Amino acid sequence: MIYAKSYRWDLSKEPDTHVAVSQKEAEAIADYFTSHLQDPRVKKNSIDMSTFSKQEARFGEEIFTQHSCIGCHQIMVDGKKTGGPQSTSFFDSGKRLKADWIYRFNSSPPDFVPHSAEFVGDVSELGLRYVTGFIATRGVKDFPYYEPWKSAEFDYPNIENGAQIYKEYCAQCHGAEGKGDGPAASGLEPKPAVHANIPFEKIPLDYLYNVIYYGGKGVGKSPLMPYWGLTIGGKQGVADVIAYLKATFKGAPETASATSQSDAPLGVCPQPRNTKRAPGKFRNMTNPLPSFPENLRAGKKLYHETAQPLAVHTMSWRKRRWQRSYGRRVESTSSKLYVWRDDE
Ligand code: HEC
Ligand code: HEC
Repeated sequence: MIYAKSYRWDLSKEPDTHVAVSQKEAEAIADYFTSHLQDPRVKKNSIDMSTFSKQEARFGEEIFTQHSCIGCHQIMVDGKKTGGPQSTSFFDSGKRLKADWIYRFNSSPPDFVPHSAEFVGDVSELGLRYVTGFIATRGVKDFPYYEPWKSAEFDYPNIENGAQIYKEYCAQCHGAEGKGDGPAASGLEPKPAVHANIPFEKIPLDYLYNVIYYGGKGVGKSPLMPYWGLTIGGKQGVADVIAYLKATFKGAPETASATSQSDAPLGVCPQPRNTKRAPGKFRNMTNPLPSFPENLRAGKKLYHETAQPLAVHTMSWRKRRWQRSYGRRVESTSSKLYVWRDDE
């Protein structure tokens, strides 16, 4: 069902009855439409889906949610139909709509349906690409997402150019020698990563690409790490600066050994877990880096800020019974007891 509440829900309280044909006939009609009903307003190859990446689809989904599209068009979120069943559903939109059409429609919706409660979103040109590609890939099995870090730019990186980029753009926060002590660092929380401690050769290339091209927000980290793709020369600039990072920073042995004690791959939690499955977009994210004191400090602060208002179980030594405490500060602990303290 494409229109859950019928097409012109505003004109009729009765569900629409529409002529029905067999699957084969429907396909023949669709073929006829495809070859004979070309809307001249729709430009061919207006969006290049052969370079559409998974990261772009993730941004597209964010736009879809943040710009209310999900208020009227349903999509699948974690296997569940989600959103307002008002206009066309997009569960399988990639199978029935062409990317060029979606792009043209999204560029100016009122050109097509000025009558039917369509919505004009405030989205940038790039955002338009993301949300269009997101809609154009719904329901498409095994869509071949583009992996920019496998492109030719990465076969011949220019390390000298990478070094120049690092000096001009990265050192202001990460420091000239990658110690996280550039002039801007004092005012930042979380602090810029200490590149000198990172064994860049071991970090997955897709992660490095996304965090540098799309910034911290691209990989679930702080937006204080800017997105550089538009500034340093796109793919080539990112390839060059990654080559420089790999050639320059090998990681401090003592921090690397803390991670290598576990057999788990970098970025995978070694603890057994029994928690609810996280939403899909977070499941695709990994942080393959070892932990550093400044990250731990920032994480601890965030954790305790989040944990404060939550009910936590503490055990009182004197009363010898479990006691429920609401984020209360517990001053004294015994080593035998598990007591939550916010200063530890
Ligand atoms: C207030 C409800 C509403 C919101 C919000 C909304 N839409 Fe729509 N959308 C509609 C209606 C109504 C139509 C017209 C359906 C028709 O006439 O076939 C439509 C049609 C479309 C179509 C064409 C679908 C097709 O089958 O050809 C696309 C693509 C689309 N919307 C994308 C978006 C995007 C992207 C957003 C968010 C920026 C969005 N819509 C937000 C109501 C909405
Ligand atoms: C405005 C300050 C700033 C600039 C300029 C900056 N970064 Fe960052 N960068 C950060 C911060 C802050 C973090 C830590 C983000 C976090 O932990 O959430 C970070 C983290 C990183 C990380 C590690 C990501 C991780 O998972 O910990 C890499 C790699 C990185 N930056 C590369 C670069 C490169 C390459 C440049 C230059 C092209 C650059 N940064 C310029 C602030 C900056």
